[in-house]
Amino acid sequence: MAVKIAPSILSADFVNLERDLQRIANADLVHVDVMDNHFVPNLTLGLPIVQRIVEVSPVPVDVHLMIEDADRWAPEFARAGASSVTFHAEATQAPVRLARELRSLGARAGVGLRPASPVEPFLDLLPELDMVLVMTVEPGFGGQSFIEGMLPKIRRTRQAIAQAGTGTWLQVDGGISRSTIARVAQAGADVFVAGSAVYGADDVAAEIDALRTLGST
Ligand code: DX5
Ligand code: ZN
Repeated sequence: MAVKIAPSILSADFVNLERDLQRIANADLVHVDVMDNHFVPNLTLGLPIVQRIVEVSPVPVDVHLMIEDADRWAPEFARAGASSVTFHAEATQAPVRLARELRSLGARAGVGLRPASPVEPFLDLLPELDMVLVMTVEPGFGGQSFIEGMLPKIRRTRQAIAQAGTGTWLQVDGGISRSTIARVAQAGADVFVAGSAVYGADDVAAEIDALRTLGST
């Protein structure tokens, strides 16, 4: 399975964002965490900054919305040129309507799940989804440790995707590093977000390559 590495700019230097985007030119995607201090107890960046990131990023932009009222806001990020927009299951009233709207705007549609949220209600909706994001930490902050208990959820999701034959990407986010990525890949994930592991490395590009190699099962 071709794996994708998506460094999270949450661990980048926000006043040197363009430089830190250029440093991950060998990645597959750049993961942009949007937080509103309501859905999660942290506040990051919004639409105007995402618009500029889309303009200068060397790789497609993967937006992870940790915000309330995703139905209102997610389409704006698709209009801004994000290649994928992930809204949280817990923050939408109408996931299918929203996913269809994102697709109609030319973005890949993703649904994100907090660690305590079940994936089962979304398994019948896989044909409507381009990506399922299984959070492997509580959303809100970088640098937390991977929740081992998420591995069965990743396995169940992969099985359902294989059965449905939809080609839906299975993304994991939180605590992904050289020491965790191989077993998460074995469980069936194929898109790996890594913030502190990538931007905390001395050689960022080499770290991306090392993660891709370790994640290739
Ligand atoms: C956390 C964010 C993550 C974060 C991951 O809520 O969604 O994308 O940047 O950071 P690490 O890889 O350090 O766990
Ligand atoms: Zn994220």
